[in-house]
Amino acid sequence: MPASKEVNGFEALFKVAKNYQKKVKTTGNGAVIVIANEKGGIGKSTITALMAAALAEVGLKVLVVDLDPQSSVTQMLLPNLEKLPSPAIGDLLTTDFDGDNALFPADVIQPVPAGTVYNNEALGQLFLLPSNPQLGKLNNYLATNINGRQILKFIIKELVIEEGALVNEYDLILIDTPSQLDSIFAESALIAGDMVLMPTTPRPVDQWAIAQTIQKIREAKRVANRGLEIVAAVVNMYDPRSGLVESEGLEAVKAALGDRVVEPPIRSLKTIANSPAKSTSLLTTGQAQKPADDFRQTTTEVMSRILARLDQLSSKGGR
Ligand SMILES: Nc1ncnc2c1ncn2[C@@H]1O[C@H](COP(=O)(O)OP(=O)(O)OP(=O)(O)O)[C@@H](O)[C@H]1O
Ligand SMILES: [Mg+2]
Repeated sequence: MPASKEVNGFEALFKVAKNYQKKVKTTGNGAVIVIANEKGGIGKSTITALMAAALAEVGLKVLVVDLDPQSSVTQMLLPNLEKLPSPAIGDLLTTDFDGDNALFPADVIQPVPAGTVYNNEALGQLFLLPSNPQLGKLNNYLATNINGRQILKFIIKELVIEEGALVNEYDLILIDTPSQLDSIFAESALIAGDMVLMPTTPRPVDQWAIAQTIQKIREAKRVANRGLEIVAAVVNMYDPRSGLVESEGLEAVKAALGDRVVEPPIRSLKTIANSPAKSTSLLTTGQAQKPADDFRQTTTEVMSRILARLDQLSSKGGR
């Protein structure tokens, strides 16, 4: 069991995860959360990997879908690979589901081994639908295919959730997207997802991307995905010691996104920056307790918002 300071964060997250799981059992399937921001390098993949791990540790069965040709989250969850996995998400996006050699999600999804981003408790709870750089070559194929932007939705909703439910039921699916939301991959994710989690930073230079991201989500909502909403925003790389600009930045994020901004912000930390390279993470044993506790608290807040949105949708009869 983690030391006492950490237990607080762990227990609160455990509780919200159990409530969420109960909700999922009644509605029949887990939420599909898209991690998106127009801006690059603000921590989308890092937050996807760490949140997935934190949630797996408290007993949720989590699937991470890597939809970025850079394959960052694949490298974070499967460190020390000699080469990136194949087959990967791109092969699923192009397979002929009716053909003799059809690939299905179960052929591509991998379990994430313990001891890297998470502790052994989570073993058997965290799965990855990996990406490799070949994905980048599919842009034109998908852009000119009649179903290009809908294939991911089909894979997730019909194959992973509906058919997979019998054998492999995920509580939560997190899709990591590339920056620049006008790529076909990010657009596909905004069509396939139920809700958006937006990481951002307090840096003034990253503020413009918030409005662009909101605009992109509005476009996806217009026809293809009416129920899509930003369910929560997480401020990442926060450094209170850097002074006025940083706290003004945090206020600017709150002005743009209101009460969707969850607390506490995620601090700029070496233990996070070093995570993938050193094959350790904020959450693994031996790392600093306070940042791990804070991160679990942020994740608890995000899960509370997701749960509230599911309640809202089911009271409308939407799910
Ligand atoms: N809170 C943090 N403290 C310190 N470093 C961080 C933090 N969050 C992310 N980083 C580092 O910042 C870099 C960018 O993070 P990450 O790859 O997660 O961003 P991204 O938004 O997914 O980028 P891209 O747009 O390229 O996909 C990485 O080196 C990561 O380790
Ligand atoms: Mg990334």
